[in-house]
Amino acid sequence: MPTRVVQVDSKNPDPALIREAAAILRAGGLIAFPTETVYGLAANALEPDAVARIFTAKGRPATNPVIVHVAEAADVAPLVSAFPETARRLAARFWPGPLTLVLPRSDRVPDIVTAAGSTVALRVPDHAVALGLLQACGLPLAAPSANPSTLLSATTAAHVLRGLDGKIDMILDAGPTPGGLESTVLDVTVTPPRLLRPGLVSQMQLETILGPLAHGPIPGDIGQPARSPGQQERHYAPRTPLECVPDAKLRIAEHLSQSRRVGWLTHHDVSPSPGVVVARLPTDPAGYAAGLYAALHRLDDAGLDVIVVDEPPADDAWVAVRDRLVRAGQK
Ligand code: TXA
Ligand code: MG
Repeated sequence: MPTRVVQVDSKNPDPALIREAAAILRAGGLIAFPTETVYGLAANALEPDAVARIFTAKGRPATNPVIVHVAEAADVAPLVSAFPETARRLAARFWPGPLTLVLPRSDRVPDIVTAAGSTVALRVPDHAVALGLLQACGLPLAAPSANPSTLLSATTAAHVLRGLDGKIDMILDAGPTPGGLESTVLDVTVTPPRLLRPGLVSQMQLETILGPLAHGPIPGDIGQPARSPGQQERHYAPRTPLECVPDAKLRIAEHLSQSRRVGWLTHHDVSPSPGVVVARLPTDPAGYAAGLYAALHRLDDAGLDVIVVDEPPADDAWVAVRDRLVRAGQK
């Protein structure tokens, strides 16, 4: 199918265009749309055949459940069998915003959305285009990130097109997404709540509301179907091999001595060196996160043998960035 790219204003999207996209979703089609984190690939979450098209377009394994997006917290009710007090408090504080809550599902949520599991992941995105689309179609929208499975997420319409051209109906192009990293995923069906994926809402922000969190895979889950397959080791990865190292200069010199074409992703003020394609990112974690995928897409398109990344700082503000770089570097 030809994929239409439609420009929309990120703050005041044209209602006629949003209605057109909503009609495609109601008819079972696929729309890529911007959120405050990354571009998502949406389908009607209540229609299993529509959601199945997401899995086909992305080449996503059926074992990986998708996030359901709703227009406001009240829309969660029909999709869950319980909405505990803690989850309500988090929703009141962080929605709309980059926090995904894993809750016990109701029977209305198709198995394909949850990978047949007993929970459903939900969030209210903080972007005028995403919210306009949710309101116009009046449906919950299943939407993983708009990229082929395991590869880099898309923060521009061009990134979406690069991975999914011909496989989806339409892309709503509202320019680069501001956040740049996927939402924080928090499982509130367990005690204490468990951080399944670090993201733009930090562990510290959550802990001020919840007290100490657990994180990582559930003990005893090893070998079981993944609890949150975003935790699969290789993910968010460029096609080009990537190495995140403490001493990038040294590693780059080794590669150059082997005549390799090298990309250098760095937040340091480095001088150009022959044979090295440099992508410079801001030194603050929010600016770095916002630019990370675009820089990796650019280096990945540059025909390089390897991308070397300067390890970002070890402090809390960098946890989500470090998580994505570690996974991007897995073989
Ligand atoms: O920022 C985001 O979260 C973006 C935008 C489009 O909203 N979406 C996104 O979706 O990153 P996706 O599918 O690429 O990542 C969803 C993550 C995956 O790690 C998935 O395994 C996990 O959430 N997930 C989805 N449903 C789950 C569930 N019921 N239990 C545990 N983890 C779940
Ligand atoms: Mg994804």
